[in-house]
Amino acid sequence: MDAFVARATSSAERQLDLGTEDALLVLTGAGVSAESGLPTYRGSGGLWRSHAFERLASPEGFDADPALVWRFYSERREAALKALPNPGHRALAEVEQRLGERFLLVTQNVDGLHRRAGSERLIEIHGRLLGTRCSGCNRPESTDETAYPEGEVPRCEQCHSALRPAVVWFGESLDPAHLEAVDEFLDRWRGGRLVFLAAGTSGAVWPAAGFVDLARARGAETWLVNAERADNAGRFDRVRQGASGTLLPELLGLGAS
Ligand code: OAD
Repeated sequence: MDAFVARATSSAERQLDLGTEDALLVLTGAGVSAESGLPTYRGSGGLWRSHAFERLASPEGFDADPALVWRFYSERREAALKALPNPGHRALAEVEQRLGERFLLVTQNVDGLHRRAGSERLIEIHGRLLGTRCSGCNRPESTDETAYPEGEVPRCEQCHSALRPAVVWFGESLDPAHLEAVDEFLDRWRGGRLVFLAAGTSGAVWPAAGFVDLARARGAETWLVNAERADNAGRFDRVRQGASGTLLPELLGLGAS
């Protein structure tokens, strides 16, 4: 049966109502930053509609034209640094304060806005836009807010290979420790309700699109907040259609600010 609920009517459909034993795992995607003025990837105005992701977000694209890739990520760094967290980011940071270790936020977003909103129990599974690492050696990743001038490709001070943005590209694996942390969180909570909430994500990119199944297999109640119908919407118990900046504060029982 289709779980799509465009308009929630009862309070059980409007709020998660988390009790003192309950745990919450949240997965966010680009839609959560849309109200901060940052473009999503798919859908109207999405980055991958106007930009070739094979050239801009793959190791092969970087090898072929690192200056083009750096121009794209430098522009995105500038946009992310100008953007401000919105009420959706702030609601998640606030509920973390209340739940402590019963809360974990996994984001596919690389823009750093969750951290700037105050989230700390945070896993950035697709990496960091404001990070740089070496394409040739294992020099530690560094924080880097630089928007490099057109044509410039920064070089590693150790091995002189091209430095690259510390984001996960198509064809690259996620850090296994991040996925283990998600598993470990889902396994840890046996007492109260376990709730999984995905927000602002199209459900098109794996393994994040399968977190709902991992959570269901552990008996979690599953919620989705998204502006449009996500590819995996049918696998959630409850779906709220709308803007995360409005719906997340409401679902989490916080006043929008
Ligand atoms: P997508 O662009 O695929 O999906 C964003 C979703 O957010 C869409 O389904 C929109 O309907 C929804 N949306 C837009 N505005 C919203 C709002 N204000 N409130 C709620 N929902 C809204 O973004 P992701 O699912 O995050 O990977 O994409 C997953 C990954 O694909 C990204 O992390 C990126 C990309 O390639 C990497 O960079 C590695």
